[in-house]
Amino acid sequence: MNAKFSSDWKRSHSCGELREQHDGQDVVLNGWVAHIRDLGNVIFVILRDRYGETQFVVDANSDPDSYQKLKKMHNEYVVAVRGKVRKRPSSMINPDMPTGAIEVVVSQVNLLNVSAVPPFAISDQSDASDALRLKYRYLDLRRPHAKQLIVDRARITRLIRQAMDSRDFLDIETPFLYKSTPEGAREFLVPSRISPGNFYALPQSPQTFKQILMVAGFDRYYQLVRCFRDEDFRSDRQPEFTQLDCELSFVDTDDILRIFSAVISDVVNKFFDSQRISNIPIMTHKEAMERFGCDKPDTRFGLELLDLTDKVAGCGFKIFANAASSGEIVNAICVEGQAASTSRKSIDEYEKMAKQFGLKGLAWAKINADSSWQSPLAKFLSDDEIAAISKAAQAKPNDLLLFAAGKFAAVKHALAAIRNHLGKALELYDPKQLNFLWVIDFPLLERAEDGHLKAMHHPFTAPKPQDFKLLSSDPLAVRAQAYDLVCNGWELGGGSIRIHSREEQNLVFKALGLSDEAIEHKFGFLIEALQYGAPPHGGIAFGLDRFVMVLTGSEGIRDLIAFPKTQKATCLMTSSPAPVPDQALADLGISHTSAQK
Ligand code: AMO
Ligand code: AMP
Repeated sequence: MNAKFSSDWKRSHSCGELREQHDGQDVVLNGWVAHIRDLGNVIFVILRDRYGETQFVVDANSDPDSYQKLKKMHNEYVVAVRGKVRKRPSSMINPDMPTGAIEVVVSQVNLLNVSAVPPFAISDQSDASDALRLKYRYLDLRRPHAKQLIVDRARITRLIRQAMDSRDFLDIETPFLYKSTPEGAREFLVPSRISPGNFYALPQSPQTFKQILMVAGFDRYYQLVRCFRDEDFRSDRQPEFTQLDCELSFVDTDDILRIFSAVISDVVNKFFDSQRISNIPIMTHKEAMERFGCDKPDTRFGLELLDLTDKVAGCGFKIFANAASSGEIVNAICVEGQAASTSRKSIDEYEKMAKQFGLKGLAWAKINADSSWQSPLAKFLSDDEIAAISKAAQAKPNDLLLFAAGKFAAVKHALAAIRNHLGKALELYDPKQLNFLWVIDFPLLERAEDGHLKAMHHPFTAPKPQDFKLLSSDPLAVRAQAYDLVCNGWELGGGSIRIHSREEQNLVFKALGLSDEAIEHKFGFLIEALQYGAPPHGGIAFGLDRFVMVLTGSEGIRDLIAFPKTQKATCLMTSSPAPVPDQALADLGISHTSAQK
């Protein structure tokens, strides 16, 4: 039977509210027992709720009844407690607790519900396994830090809505029961009962709908919307995640960057209650690749990639000379002051990283005090060559040079990975710093592993007008009107100006190798809509989970989601996915071959 929760037991204050100025007030608090300390004839209880923690105290001599009741309590029991606020003596003030200047002297206790013994200690110091915490996520979320992240997320969401609403964006919902779209990731399919053999797909993003909303004339749209992608797990990926999805009419790239720099600054500065960003710098994709080796550079530190291809052409070290003469590249990073402190083992580790990107190795040189090199390469290079390379790399004594030679992508990706590793390991930046960056002018197309051309962003992205003529002659050289928002090495958002003419859209589909039938089948509805006065339009989507991750300094996005999935895309709390009864499948006209039932 539930304990009585009559109105006189409703809380007068939250557990995070009471301060010195409440001294002497009679209060009622409701919450969970976080901690009990029994000192013989005095019991201290910490009561916890969403807002914080408050200490209660009861003395056996002055209040034997409450004392006996509290003595029977255990952690996580749900209680209502009545008492009088008392200022703590200065020696007892707990500066780590917002309510640490007071305690409440208990006068009456009402047990509202008991709790089974939790499977792990509910504390930020808990060492419970991830699996256990996910299975009992509702207990995990009682930990102050876990709870705070969810509270922060809600605050960020609220700030985003304010920023969007105040700029005349309309919040419009789009369907979840959708059909296949081509945005790279595999989709989650939903069988139709009414049309057996037919499937909906859960949207990877509302891309086509938001474009059609522009055709409908809505002009500025946004939605905080769940997206579904059946992708392989990474710390910054979940199979369902949330986007701040936006689309605008009558805009170009400059408008988008200006409007969303303001939106992002607004949200970030209000979240931190200080001017953390004012303007967001812009870098072309080409420059990002050249200087940082990747399209989402962490610009909190230097360690930039240096192109030495011309400098090593014809040099005595064949791996470099051959790369330079065969259209490949040679790049280096100069790690300042790290020659003496870098062990052979560390260099082997960097070399292993390079090999993961398909390079055969990683060459290195430590600069001696007399500027000569300690390096496996030294014997292949003349003194002049060594001096020229050192100069090009601006290397000084005790610097470590790491060189990669090979195909453009392999060299860049390998050195980018090593650079990110070193930035963190050598603590080259303040982890609290936020370096936002726009990366623009992405290539329109890239070559997929199977050799086909595919859209780098998505097939609705408009080429830069001046590059359009290259679409048939040199498609990989075509730049797109596409942009990403990057922060501290994470891709937080991406978007583009869209193609708004049916003919141009067809040409891009053709460049992607789509047949007329495929175009009609996949995007007939969009092509048709483009015929009816589609305005010039463009947009962007930000990953809300990643945005909250960066703002809260979290390591991944899982902790920012109330009920996240595991690496295997399962929910340990509800045990999903799960088999369904045969009849449910029969109703959907589905049979399956999986042995596992
Ligand atoms: P895109 O595919 O780049 O663009 O996605 C936009 C942003 O969504 C976030 N994101 C994810 N976050 C968590 N888990 C995932 N699996 C995941 N996948 C993507 C990233 C990413 O930058 N329709 C286009 C946008 C547009 O063109 O307007 C789109 O979805 O932060
Ligand atoms: P090897 O001639 O294979 O013994 O290599 C000599 C040195 O060059 C070793 O330190 C290798 O790690 C390095 N090396 C090999 N391939 C590459 C490459 N593609 N880029 C940079 N260094 C390399």
